[in-house]
Amino acid sequence: MSALSITVALLVWAACLLVISFWKQVYSSWRLPPGPFPLPIIGNVFQIDFNNIPKSLFKLAEQYGPVFTIYLGPYRVVVLHGYQAVKEVLLQHKDFNGRAELAAVHLHKDKGIIFNDGPTWKDVRRFSLTKLRDYGMGKEGNERRIQTEVPFLLQALRETQGRPFDPTFLISGAPCNIIASILFGRRFGYGDESGLRLRRMVHENFYLLGTRWLQIYNVFSTYLYYLPGTHRKVMKNVSEIKNDILERVKEHHKSLDPNCPRDFIDCLLIEMEKEKQGAEPVYTLDNIAVTVADLLFAGTETTSTTLRYGLLILMKYPDIEEKLHEEIDRVIGPSRIPAIKDRLEMPYMDAVVHEIMRFINLVPSNLYHKATRDTVFRGYVIPKGTIVIPTLDSLLYDKQEFPDPEQFKPEHFLNENGKFKYSDHFKAFSAGKRVCVGEGLARMEVFLFLTAILQHFRLKPLVDRKDIDLSPIVNGFASVPHPYKLCVLPRSCEARSL
Ligand code: HEM
Repeated sequence: MSALSITVALLVWAACLLVISFWKQVYSSWRLPPGPFPLPIIGNVFQIDFNNIPKSLFKLAEQYGPVFTIYLGPYRVVVLHGYQAVKEVLLQHKDFNGRAELAAVHLHKDKGIIFNDGPTWKDVRRFSLTKLRDYGMGKEGNERRIQTEVPFLLQALRETQGRPFDPTFLISGAPCNIIASILFGRRFGYGDESGLRLRRMVHENFYLLGTRWLQIYNVFSTYLYYLPGTHRKVMKNVSEIKNDILERVKEHHKSLDPNCPRDFIDCLLIEMEKEKQGAEPVYTLDNIAVTVADLLFAGTETTSTTLRYGLLILMKYPDIEEKLHEEIDRVIGPSRIPAIKDRLEMPYMDAVVHEIMRFINLVPSNLYHKATRDTVFRGYVIPKGTIVIPTLDSLLYDKQEFPDPEQFKPEHFLNENGKFKYSDHFKAFSAGKRVCVGEGLARMEVFLFLTAILQHFRLKPLVDRKDIDLSPIVNGFASVPHPYKLCVLPRSCEARSL
């Protein structure tokens, strides 16, 4: 080795030591919660498995306790683990209600609801909630909407004629139509190409956002942006969905009658028109398109993944399916369309629905929050801009509250008399100011659609039940089940013809 290369190597080594010691000084000067020591730029990548971030966070909580700090690449992150810490952050600290950026969805940054960390979030969220309620969200109107969709779903299932099929896009037609009728005032036929195209893109993004590459991309997007990879596909889908919706918004605008709003888009457009006299606009065409895209994305794929996962679970446990058939036959009978009031007399179905949502752990690490100002929490100082993760899996998989949390057991939500048992650890929809906007709708849909399917069909797996794999294929953003096929067999020839 020449003298020159030895000198260069020594200089590089000295520079590294300098950077690390400077970094150490800065790092230890903050009063942050404990955590593994991070390296400059890459942070704690050696402590995090990008294939399964929720599991890594669980492990780190065992070591560092319920409040700890990690660095995802350059981003400082405070993680909350367990009932007390998560509830405290979500319900008692309004300064943790910001939203961390998701690089692959930067097109939605500070617009709409989900990824909005800007000044318009509060207004858009509040307005959307009230309007969605006017159109039946959380009230009777939604129940009727779902009940109207039930016969279409059953008919699509009947048309499979007992043959094997992949349920993904058949099932997603139902929740998609519920939210589409609220947003656009229309439903799509299950085979309708424009509806299918939207559902395919939404589904693809829900899956890709959970993959290892997208976890890495979201952390190191500054360096990876120009590289080829599936992040490009996600961004393309985000852009196409938004453009598709923007076109629909513009069409609505042309025929808008401010005295007679037809749907949610019209309500937002009316607000936009009113604002034209004012200064800083909240409702621009762009913001309206992103708001509607958010609701379409969240309103379709979450509920449909829950239903798809639920059917897979029930195929693994035929005795549970059998008990559900019995309860449905006893309370509803063979032909009446299920109603929400039935839930009161169906504790077993209610428990199974809750257990599905607990077990599948749809959004294990929640959507990432952000500290909106320097905040003292349990004696630590959490600087403004820190990403905050109030993990939901730490509540849903709490060993004390749900013994054997890895097992699917409806008994987790049943008392000794077989009645439904409420658990305050059930926070699949999060809590506080950022709580899921569609919680009421989603709960209603899962209960009514699943009940209707089981009222009419028996589920038949194509593989040995013991070989059914219930672990998620990805869980970085949301938990998605492995793809599968099944057969649905009509339960009997009784009057089951809606
Ligand atoms: C099983 C179904 C669902 C689950 C498990 C679920 C779960 C969640 C979770 C965990 C969050 C993040 C809350 C937080 O940041 O603290 C969220 C946010 C959100 N959800 Fe859902 N969700 C579901 C269905 C829906 C539906 C049907 C809609 C729309 C109709 C919807 C719309 C939203 C919106 C707009 C947000 C963003 C709220 C905000 O940032 O202010 N979700 N959801």
